[in-house]
Amino acid sequence: MKKSEEKKEVDTKPRPGETPSEVEDFLDLRPRRLSEYIGQGQVVETLDIAIKAAKKRGEPLDHILFHSPPGLGKTTLAHIIATEMGGRIITSSGPAIEKGGDLISILTHLEKGDVLFIDEIHRLPKVVEEFLYPAMEDFCIDFIFDKGAHARSHRYRLERFTLVGATTRAGLLSAPLRERFGILRNLDFYSVEELNRVVKRSAALLGVLIDQEGTEEIAKRSRGTPRISNRLLKRVRDYAEIRGQGKITKEITDEALRLEGVDEMGLTSLDRRFLETIIRYYKGGPVGLEAIAATLQEEADTLVDMVEPFLLKIGFVARTQNGRKATELAYEHFGIPYHESGRQLSLPTRKKH
Ligand SMILES: Nc1ncnc2c1ncn2[C@@H]1O[C@H](COP(=O)(O)OP(=O)(O)O)[C@@H](O)[C@H]1O
Ligand SMILES: [Mg+2]
Repeated sequence: MKKSEEKKEVDTKPRPGETPSEVEDFLDLRPRRLSEYIGQGQVVETLDIAIKAAKKRGEPLDHILFHSPPGLGKTTLAHIIATEMGGRIITSSGPAIEKGGDLISILTHLEKGDVLFIDEIHRLPKVVEEFLYPAMEDFCIDFIFDKGAHARSHRYRLERFTLVGATTRAGLLSAPLRERFGILRNLDFYSVEELNRVVKRSAALLGVLIDQEGTEEIAKRSRGTPRISNRLLKRVRDYAEIRGQGKITKEITDEALRLEGVDEMGLTSLDRRFLETIIRYYKGGPVGLEAIAATLQEEADTLVDMVEPFLLKIGFVARTQNGRKATELAYEHFGIPYHESGRQLSLPTRKKH
């Protein structure tokens, strides 16, 4: 198999947690070069310097760890890095690498300058992680043959590669693993202005007609997340083609997103259920995340990864020592009177959203 074909095959395989439509996003909408990557100014600038410096010295790039909530561009950056360095990318993910042997077979097939991208690296099993330490630090792995008194070890040299790790939970990464990354970067939510550019770019690539107000409306309702911008754009496009004249306007966007259950701040029904549970069921909090998860019958992990970061970012939720609290802004959003203690004097009747 030729190298270029091999790369293509690795690239298009959906990874755990990635739906086929997200892979499709990746195929047509993902920026390919650093210069096309919108926002994350400081991250882009420092990466650009690191990439140019490594190329100038003719060396592979340092290992890089990206940390952010889902959909902010970690995977995209990993692919861009490989492209900019002129190397291949081999992708895998923490839960997919079950045994030491799985990792060894990936590592021993790497060529000089390859990028090994491990998504959800915080879910790498401990036994696998230990093989990664010498591989990252000294580009070698130690094989152990036999057990007990007959144990022998053999050191295997690897080609110099760049590990790019991505995680939604930097806190779950073990300290020794984190310390072996030379570059650690945190991606933040995007501004509405940046998401405007994402929507415009994606609309042009998809060949969708959209006016400025429609663009802004989608950007405003994207929860600071480019993946959501692309997803909403596709849903609004469908609506515009079937119920409208094919062009995306503010009215079309409003109607389409009302059907999608996305409110004017971009909150989804899960976001609203999360907030309403704290406000109505736990009287504003503080309440532990596990209790909220149990009430909602959702996985605590889903809430921590997908729901909470944005609500914290927009100041609807506060984290305290005793748990999560709904803020005055959240009460306002639902039109519920707020009292300093965080408790309501009388519970208003449930409003429909
Ligand atoms: N900076 C960006 N500029 C333009 N589009 C972006 C950017 N970051 C992400 N995207 C879009 O959002 C989608 C999700 O990004 P991805 O890299 O998969 O996020 P993550 O790996 O952090 O979950 C991509 O398919 C891409 O189309
Ligand atoms: Mg990803």
